Amino acid sequence: MPLASGLRGARVLVTAASQGIGYAAARAFLGEGARVVINSSNPDRLKSAVGRLEPHGEVHGVVADLTRQEDLDRLLLETVARLGGIDTLVYLTGAPPPGIFMEQGFQDWTRAAGLMVVGPAYLARKTAEAMLAAHTAGRMVFLGSVAMREPIPNLATSSVCRIAMSGLVRTLARELGPTGIRVNGILPGYIRTGRIDELAADTAQRRGTTVEVVLREMESDVPLGRIGSPEELANAIVFLGSEMSSYVTGTLLAVDGGRLRSVG
Ligand SMILES: NC(=O)c1ccc[n+]([C@@H]2O[C@H](COP(=O)([O-])OP(=O)(O)OC[C@H]3O[C@@H](n4cnc5c(N)ncnc54)[C@H](OP(=O)(O)O)[C@@H]3O)[C@@H](O)[C@H]2O)c1
Repeated sequence: MPLASGLRGARVLVTAASQGIGYAAARAFLGEGARVVINSSNPDRLKSAVGRLEPHGEVHGVVADLTRQEDLDRLLLETVARLGGIDTLVYLTGAPPPGIFMEQGFQDWTRAAGLMVVGPAYLARKTAEAMLAAHTAGRMVFLGSVAMREPIPNLATSSVCRIAMSGLVRTLARELGPTGIRVNGILPGYIRTGRIDELAADTAQRRGTTVEVVLREMESDVPLGRIGSPEELANAIVFLGSEMSSYVTGTLLAVDGGRLRSVG
């Protein structure tokens, strides 16, 4: 019997989805027959992404900056208005700029906390309110990073702020579990998007080596020996954002080719 995702006609919001992992996730949900709203902060990039996704199903774009409260309020309102409710929230953020701890200033921490702590917590609250009002036993999936388990060199803000997302997932799973709403997190390792090239270029410049050398080192750090694709990550997002994971909540799933070394 084929696996039943239960996503045909499901109403899905994917944030930060004009490219990269979010875009691949939106494409995967459309492939399962879901109706999707994608978001990003740049109107032109978002419009272009909606245009590329439209041949695959019903998709809408909502421009919103995930660090702004009024934008988060409007994002949820417009999602519910366009789809008639929400069954699955997939929260991704823009990637924080690379940098070591001693390079970070007050504004860097404020922005990072906005994207990785305040934004997801606030949007989760708004989403839960909408789901509870409609008696929807929905799903939330938060995309973090392996930094939720092990700090990553040269990514100080991420290594500090992502950890809050683990607390958010576990807190929500516990509080919302009795209502049927499930909440899970994903810890991506290296995934082939523009982000990886940006990180590799920054590391190469700091160490006076080439991007190719840094990318090879990244690959050799992964037991499976390669960088993952956005589509491989999207499969895990669809699993946790669908009925295929109906007895899974509060889980933090690493999708990293085995890169994490920590136990537990
Ligand atoms: N790629 C990896 O290896 C990897 C590994 C672990 C974790 N991650 C994390 O996963 C997330 C997505 O990564 P990615 O590789 O897909 O990055 P990406 O290709 O750079 O895409 C980032 C997305 O975020 C959107 N965005 C940026 N700032 C935003 C804001 N303020 N409000 C709304 N949307 C915003 C961008 O759209 P606009 O520019 O149109 O706004 C874009 O669609 C990031 O948080 C990243 O740190 C990535």
